[in-house]
This record gives sequence, structure tokens and C-alpha cells, in this order.
Amino acid sequence: MSIEEKAFNRKRFVPDSMLAFGFEKTDGAFRYEGDFMNGDFSAALTVSEKGEITGSVIDKMNCEEYRPLRSDSFQGAYVNTVRAAYEEWLGKIAAECCKDVLFSSDQANRIAERIAETFGVGSDYPWEQSQYQSYGVFRHGDNSKWFALIMNVKRQVLLKNGDGDAVDIINLKADPERISALTEQAGVYPAYHMSRKYWISVTLDGSLTDEEVMALVKDSFNLTKNNKAKKNKRRNTKMSKVLVVTSSLRAKSNSDILAERLIAGAKDAGHEVECVSLKGKTIKFCIGCFACQKTKKCLQKDDAVEIAEKMKNADTLVFVTPIYYYEMSGQMKTLLDRMNPLYSSDYSFRKVYMLSVAADDAKTTPEKAVNGLQGWIDCFEKARLCGSLFFGGIDGAGEAANRKEALDEAYEFGKALA
Ligand SMILES: Cc1cc2nc3c(=O)[nH]c(=O)nc-3n(C[C@H](O)[C@H](O)[C@H](O)COP(=O)(O)O)c2cc1C
Repeated sequence: MSIEEKAFNRKRFVPDSMLAFGFEKTDGAFRYEGDFMNGDFSAALTVSEKGEITGSVIDKMNCEEYRPLRSDSFQGAYVNTVRAAYEEWLGKIAAECCKDVLFSSDQANRIAERIAETFGVGSDYPWEQSQYQSYGVFRHGDNSKWFALIMNVKRQVLLKNGDGDAVDIINLKADPERISALTEQAGVYPAYHMSRKYWISVTLDGSLTDEEVMALVKDSFNLTKNNKAKKNKRRNTKMSKVLVVTSSLRAKSNSDILAERLIAGAKDAGHEVECVSLKGKTIKFCIGCFACQKTKKCLQKDDAVEIAEKMKNADTLVFVTPIYYYEMSGQMKTLLDRMNPLYSSDYSFRKVYMLSVAADDAKTTPEKAVNGLQGWIDCFEKARLCGSLFFGGIDGAGEAANRKEALDEAYEFGKALA
């Protein structure tokens, strides 16, 4: 993405506002010129009729295009100052001349509008990580189940020989018997990030007409709606069956100490809570044999089998991990891999939470761990990540016991579990 594309991502130019701002219209294109960095640089922005945006930055010292601006290999203090000043200049134009739109492509925005008109629902954005923040989920009003997910991805995730260009796609549930025929059409692919057995990805780049996309959205809506009047009794009441899985193996574990407070809060809120610690457990690595997808059981007989059963039957899962190398602990990842038998099972869990602890107190410390867990959750289409609690600046064994604020926060988090 160019600097200009980034500045105007999810924005659409409004011609009247552009003219009022000072853009000139010639040969169907809008053009605006101005200076920045106290007049050391001049910039020109052109917006074509189709909305293509191009920019040019001239260094007034030599009246030449300032090329370092667009090269990642130039990262000196001066070039970064010029970049920041140019981005600020573009930002002002965006604020005055554009309106915000939900998704990158026009077709994605039209489909979002049609979904709102047809089903009366808008999208929500459940991911916290910056690269997924714009992914919009469309859910049924009555049971929160997803029926569509719009994402902006690189084409190479859909096609082995696809390029690195970004494209908006919509993930939709489809009749498994129709999936192979559907994916023969241009613009329809096996699902990215969802079960390929039940879901497809459709590019929102005009390969299919809006009507064709909406027909698939309607199918997805019908296939995902809850036809059973019978609902889990526990879900109708406020009480949930909560399983907390702690993964630190050390004595006086900080994450265990905080998990205890979370559990106390959850119990006080009326939930039925069970805690499984991975301390002393034997959990071998997944060997990738896929036998579990046929038998729903793992061939390896160790402690993961019992934990899988407990996870399957819980309504709510809470994973507790120390941060190791800016990721979840290896023992937690090994456990998640071994939960592969649940993938094809009638699992009960719908809500997943995470509690993590690290020495580093930067806000970004748990991002990769949360991301990793999100990857796992994404494969369980009925479940979603409902919250993540991170405590930084806690390192020495047992240190968490002296952190009253953290203990209270963990308790309140447990109390608020759904
Ligand atoms: C192998 C290993 C890797 C670690 N990596 C990180 C890290 O990347 N960032 C960080 O802030 N802390 C890191 N830590 C520190 C732990 O996250 C920290 O001590 C935490 O309080 C441990 O929680 P626990 O007592 O529940 O095991 C690491 C600790 C270990 C043992």
C-alpha cells in the first residue's frame, strides 16, 4: 500500500468537500497542491474519477521528486520527519474531504448495506489486534452466531500462485455438497480461516455481482440460524460452566495466583468453575495423523484426553498463560494442538477468555499470544474470544501476590465472565 492509499484507506472522497477545500477538477480528475514542512517540500495529490489516488512530493531544494519518502530502506531521522509531515498533510485532506466507510472495497460496503437492509444487522469488530481490527463479523440477532465475515486479505491466502495484493473477501457458510461446484466459479474459493468443509470465501472485487453475493449471504444466513427452540438450559440462566486452564509449570506461579482471583470472582458471580493446571500433566505433541477427525479421539493416551473432554463440555474457557518469548507458553500451545479431536465434535464452549502475565509491561506484550489463541478459536466457528486480560511488570515467582490492583482486577474480570 502506498502512503496515500494508507492515508485514505476506508475513506471515500466527497467531491463538494474537495472543491470547497481547494481541489481543482481538470480532465475528470481532482488535483490539489500545497506545501509542507515550512515550505521545504511541495506536494500534489490527484484523485481520478475511479477514486485512484496518486501523490507526488517535490524537494524544493532541487525541484526533484523526493524518492527516499517511498523507500523502506531509507529510515533516517530526516526522511522519517518528512514522511510524518507528509502523512499529516494527507491526514488534513482526509479529515476535510472524505467520509469514512466500513470496508476497503466499494462492493464490500454495498454488501454491508444490503445485509443491514435485508437482515437488520450491522457488523461488529471483535478483534483487538491492529491487523484484524477492520475484520467485520455479521451475526444473527438471537444467538450471536456468525453468518458472514468480511476481511481484507492478500490474494495469496486464497490462491497458491496469488499475488500479495490486498482484496476484500466475505466468508459464508454453504451447503457442503455445493462447495466444490461453487468454488469452480471465478471469485469463489475454499474458506480462508474457517472450516473449508462448510464455508467459502468470495472476493468482493466484482467477480460476482452484488445479487449473486447476496444470494450466497442468504444461504449462509439460513444455514447458520438456530432452528432448535431447545436451548441449553444453562445458557438461558446466567450461570455458565467455566473451565480455567492454567499453563505455568512453576511453583508460586504469578498467572496461577491471578487465576485464583479470577476463579473467586467467577464463583461469586454464580458460575460453576473447574480449574485444570498443566503442572505434572503429560501432554505429548500432536503428531498430525488426523485419526481424530474420523474417530473424534486422539490415538495418544495421555492427560490431554481428559482435558479435551472437560473443554468439550464447558460453556466458557479461560486460558491462563505466562508470556514466553512474546507468545503463549509452549505447554499451552501444545495443549491447543492436542484439542484437534474437538474440531469435528459437538463442543459446547462458546466463549473464550485469556489471562496472561509477563515481565514486560508494554501494552503490546501479549498481542502475539492473543493472536495465537484467536487462530485456534477461529477454527471453532461457534466460539469467540470475549476478552483478554494482561498483567505486565510481574516477573519473580509469587510477585503477583503483592499486586493488589492486579488481584482485584482479576477478581472483577472473573465476576464479569459470561
Ligand atoms: C522461557 C521464558 C520466556 C519468557 N519470555 C518473556 C517475554 O518474552 N516477555 C516477558 O515480558 N516476559 C517473559 N518471561 C517472563 C515471564 O512471563 C514472567 O516471569 C511471568 O511472571 C511468569 O509467569 P508465571 O509465574 O505464571 O510462570 C519469560 C519467562 C520464561 C521462563
